Parts: sequence; structure tokens; C-alpha cells
Amino acid sequence: MTHAFQIVIFGASGDLARRKLIPALTRLHAEGHLESEFAVVGVARRPKSDEEFRQELAEALDPEDRSAFEALAPRIHYHQGDAKDGASLAALGSRLDALPGGSEAGRLFYLSLKPDLFAETARALAKAGLTGAHPGERAAWRRVVIEKPFGRDLTSARALNDDLHAVLREEQIFRIDHYLGKETVQNLLGFRFHNAIFEPLWNRHHVELVQISVAESIGVEQGRAAYYDETGALRDMLQNHMLQILALVAMEPPTSLDPKALRNQKVDLLRALHCPDAAEIGCASVRARYGPGEIEGRPALGYLDEEGVPPDSRTETYVALRAEIDNWRWSGVPFLLRHGKRLPRRFTEVKVQFRTTPLQLFNQPEGMDPSEFRRRLRDGSLCQIRPNVLTLSIQPREQIHLSFGVKRPGAQMVMTPATLGFDYREHFGESPPEAYERLLLDALTGDQTLFLSADEIEASWRYADEVLEGWEGPEAPPLLEHPAGKWGPEEADRLFLGCEGGWTRG
Ligand code: BG6
Repeated sequence: MTHAFQIVIFGASGDLARRKLIPALTRLHAEGHLESEFAVVGVARRPKSDEEFRQELAEALDPEDRSAFEALAPRIHYHQGDAKDGASLAALGSRLDALPGGSEAGRLFYLSLKPDLFAETARALAKAGLTGAHPGERAAWRRVVIEKPFGRDLTSARALNDDLHAVLREEQIFRIDHYLGKETVQNLLGFRFHNAIFEPLWNRHHVELVQISVAESIGVEQGRAAYYDETGALRDMLQNHMLQILALVAMEPPTSLDPKALRNQKVDLLRALHCPDAAEIGCASVRARYGPGEIEGRPALGYLDEEGVPPDSRTETYVALRAEIDNWRWSGVPFLLRHGKRLPRRFTEVKVQFRTTPLQLFNQPEGMDPSEFRRRLRDGSLCQIRPNVLTLSIQPREQIHLSFGVKRPGAQMVMTPATLGFDYREHFGESPPEAYERLLLDALTGDQTLFLSADEIEASWRYADEVLEGWEGPEAPPLLEHPAGKWGPEEADRLFLGCEGGWTRG
């Protein structure tokens, strides 16, 4: 970035600005990624001076970021205003014109606002003349960043896309799914498409099943009950973050890293997801909520006892799905997706389980006659082989493991499990950067690779809508309850039908 830019954060008093955006900008600045002239302007309704705003932001930072923030602070400003109000936006425009870079600066409008304000704010910005790039001046770009949720079903997602497209070009819209900013999620692409050894195996001929788990130990956080109860686990995590991981794991190789090439492959994959019909939904999905239990030795409330949750709530905090992909590569391979709040541990993991060898030669139990051994292997009453599993740990540990069998030393041909492992921190000597650092930098440079396209969002909702509709139908799976701090309902194990193994525990 060589040209001046300005970042305008609407909803600057909110949590996202304090917890994610300012810390990310602080680190990017300290690491020398923001070299050009720039200004950051927080916009919110309460009156506040620049100095008070900077003070608030500094106090919210982790102590280790505070000294780096001092260097960034003079570039941060506060503007009292309302994102929907024309006069307010006109005043904001004049303020921006007077800041470094002025009207020639590139401008990133970050709508850290309630989702029902996205369309209205984009319209108001356009009406105030703030989103139109100056003709012929490529450097004076105008971009708008929004965060999930992008609608609550296909119809509302389409309406939002239409509203945004009425005033912005798709290249100006940066829709964040923060999982795509995680290093280990990006590495799914690198790992798959840079290493030739896995590609020949990455299909239905060699893969028995794929598991994607996003487990959280937190429950519904304070102040989020109203949002969460309207949303539920499927809309909150599965429709977006988990389907994005699934798309990266299963999509066809792109021909380049061009954002369009990459995003189109994801869209194709999402469109190939088989939508379970009313008769299939009961076998293909499990839903539950956490009841009272224990987390890390401490009593934990049940979902219904959390502050702000209506007593008659029917919202799921746990979802498990057996997804299928109707294409040549994956037909018949189950993709098991599971997410829950108040599970024993926080982890996100992808497990690719390969098919076993066609003939089991090893691990004949001592004293068992060879023909008995062969007979029992054949009728399935004995299994002496473990599948090779490739585990891609996304968080909190960032690791890759491949399990395989090795011969135990000794006279007998006994195979025992072993693993090859890779650990990001051990290898690179540091933790990967926070998702928002990467995403902000990409939005500033105009790289849409890690942002969602309108098509991807609609393709994800098409699938999620079908599941949600099935949950309203006659074959809907019951809403189960599991104790907080346990691994979810046992019923979820039946999604493994016909496959080896069970849910991973991280
Ligand atoms: C958000 C969800 O999108 O992701 C939250 O709304 C969830 O409910 C969070 O806790 C998880 O993000 P991460 O990065 O902590 O895995």
C-alpha cells in the first residue's frame, strides 16, 4: 500500500471495534504493514472527544499491545454521528476530506453495526456521495465491509445482496467470515493444492469419511441471548464458518489464486451439497441444547437458565449433520459436521479418514487359528486395522497429524498406531496472526480472496434453509438435551452409520 487511506468504523463504541479491529490495526501498524499515510475514524452516536475515544480504546487493549497503540493513537479520531442520517454523513464527509489523504484517499467503511442496518447504511453512504470512487482516480477507492449474519435465510440473504448491489459494485463489498482469516483455514488450500501426494487420494475412492468439528466450551455469552436465541447453532456457525471449511476441504482445484477462480470453486461445491428432504432429515441431523452441567470442574447453567433466554425457547445450541456432496469426487462420502456450545473443550478440527486396505494381514490374535482369523475378519466380527487419518487442527492448537500403523518390534507381525506430526508454533516459533489482521490488510489492498461473494452466501443458505425446513416438518429430529460439559447427545453417533470411528474429542 503506497497510497493514503482512511478507515471509517461505524459502531465504534461496540465490542468488535474494541476487541478485534483496533487490536488488529495496532499490530499491523507496529509490524510496519501500514506504511502509507492514513487515518482511522470511529463513528458512533454518543458525544466524545478524540482523546476520550483513544483512552477508551487503550483501556480495552491487552497490556502487551498498549505501548504499540501509543504510536497509532494520534491517527485515530472520533466523529459523533448517525450512519443513516444524511446531514451526519455530510459532516463526516467534510471531516474525512480534512484528514490526511483527503478525498483522494482510499476509504474503507466498516459497518460494525446491527445487520438490519447494513442495507440502510450503504444506501445512506451512497446518497451522501461517499461510496462513489472519483472517475479516473483508481487510488481513491471506496469499499464497504460487513460482518455476518448475512440474512437469516435464503430470501433475506438475497434481499440484502440486492439492496447492496443497488448502490455498490460487488468489488466494493467485503463480507467477512472471520474463519477465512485464520492461518490454519487458509492453509487448507495450501496443504491441498501445493502437496501433490494427497490429491490422488482426495476423493471417494480413498476417503471413507470427513469430519469437521467446531467445539466451544463457552455458552451463550452475556448480552448475546437475544441474538443467539433467534439464531441457533445451525445459523450461527454451521451455515457460514463450517460450510466455508467444508468448501475449502472439498472443492475442486482452482486454476489460479485469483479471487473469482477460488470463490467460484467454492460456490460450485456448495451448490453440489445434497439437501436432505423431509424424509431424510431425521437420519441426517441431530439437534440439541445444553442442560445444566459442569465445565472445568465448575457448575454451568443450562441454556434455558441463561440470562435473557425465553423459558419456552426451542433453539439448538448443538447441531450434527451428515452432509453429502453430489459430485463425481465425493458421491457417497459422508461429511460429518458437528458444532456445539458448552462442550468440554474448545477446538476446531478437520479429520479426513481414509479407506482401509482391502485385506487385513496383521494382528492375528495370539492362539487364534488362521482360518478362524480370516473368517472373523470376513464376517466383520473382528477388525484389526485402523484407518489412516489426516487431522488438520485449526485451533487452538495449530497442527497437522497423519496417523498410520508401524510394526511393533518383536517376533510377531503386530502393527501399532503411530503419527507424523507438524506444529505451527514449534515450526515457525510464533503463533499465527489474528484473523482480523489479515482480513483488514486484504480489504485495504482490495483483495477479495478471503471474503465471501454474494453467490457463496446464497448457496450456503440454500442448504441451511432445507435443513431448517426439515426441522419444522413431520420427520424432524427431536430437540435433545445434553449436560453442559459433555460431548453432546449420544444420538449423534448414529450419523456414523456404516463407517468406522466416532466423533473426535480434539
Ligand atoms: C462467531 C459466532 O461467528 O464465531 C460465535 O457468532 C462463536 O457464537 C464465534 O463463538 C467463534 O469464533 P472463534 O474464532 O472463537 O472460533
